[in-house]
Amino acid sequence: MSFVFFVVKLFFRSERNFMSKTILVTGASSGIGRAICERLLAEGHQVLGVARDFKKLPSSHPRFQAFFIDLSALPALPERLQAVAEAHPQVEAIVFNAGRGLFGSLEQLSPAQIRSLIDLNFTSHALLARAFLPALKKRGEGDLIFIGSEAALRGRRMGSIYCASKFALRGFAQALREECAASGVRVAVINPGMAQTPFYDGLDFAPGPEPANYLEPADVAQAVSLILAARPGTVFDEINLSPLKRVVRARSPEKKA
Ligand SMILES: NC(=O)c1ccc[n+]([C@@H]2O[C@H](COP(=O)([O-])OP(=O)(O)OC[C@H]3O[C@@H](n4cnc5c(N)ncnc54)[C@H](OP(=O)(O)O)[C@@H]3O)[C@@H](O)[C@H]2O)c1
Repeated sequence: MSFVFFVVKLFFRSERNFMSKTILVTGASSGIGRAICERLLAEGHQVLGVARDFKKLPSSHPRFQAFFIDLSALPALPERLQAVAEAHPQVEAIVFNAGRGLFGSLEQLSPAQIRSLIDLNFTSHALLARAFLPALKKRGEGDLIFIGSEAALRGRRMGSIYCASKFALRGFAQALREECAASGVRVAVINPGMAQTPFYDGLDFAPGPEPANYLEPADVAQAVSLILAARPGTVFDEINLSPLKRVVRARSPEKKA
């Protein structure tokens, strides 16, 4: 077989094997979610991105569609998500990534801050899964991928509510995995350690400065690809990712406008 014939055969084989999916990603405008969107688009998928502010990610990519949704505005959320789910029954995978950090001793956090963090980091994801699950179960396949955290694995001081939100998300995902398996819907959790993103802009700590002190957002995106590419009968239950050397540095939080 000539070399040219071999390359052409390889090309057509990979074209035939590649299945472009429609994938919804929350927290698509920044950090990890943005890297996930970029990777999925580069792989040829259709991406529906959810965030409040896409000025940070001005995307005119023909396979990207932006949805401006405040996931912490719970009263209107079920109806809004239902409308998106009904308008996009082709969604085959969801990456539940939107979230933020809130740290401090428990007495320093107001009841409103506590409620709003749980609303965003946990309840909004439960409502999103609830809106899309009937269509995914009917289709008989699909992927729900939750971005947890190392904070979902172990509680740490000053992180009581953040850890609680991520433990809740992880427990929810574990239960959902059992609930959905019979319908062909796979549920995975990715637990990253400290990643170099704007997550730390409003916080008084950040990962150390050396490349071995933080994950790149693209590392987490790579794990998402791995999960999506697994053969349908295989589930990556959880993937834990850590920087090689865990170093936390104190810093002055950036003042937000
Ligand atoms: N960075 C880390 O070290 C780290 C480690 C472990 C886990 N994580 C988790 O990874 C996820 C992504 O964090 P990141 O590091 O990429 O932080 P980031 O750069 O600050 O991104 C957070 C994303 O969430 C979106 N978001 C925040 N509030 C929202 C709301 N009310 N409604 C809709 N979208 C909202 C933001 O979009 P808008 O502001 O445009 O709405 C943004 O796209 C979070 O769940 C975080 O807990 C991060």
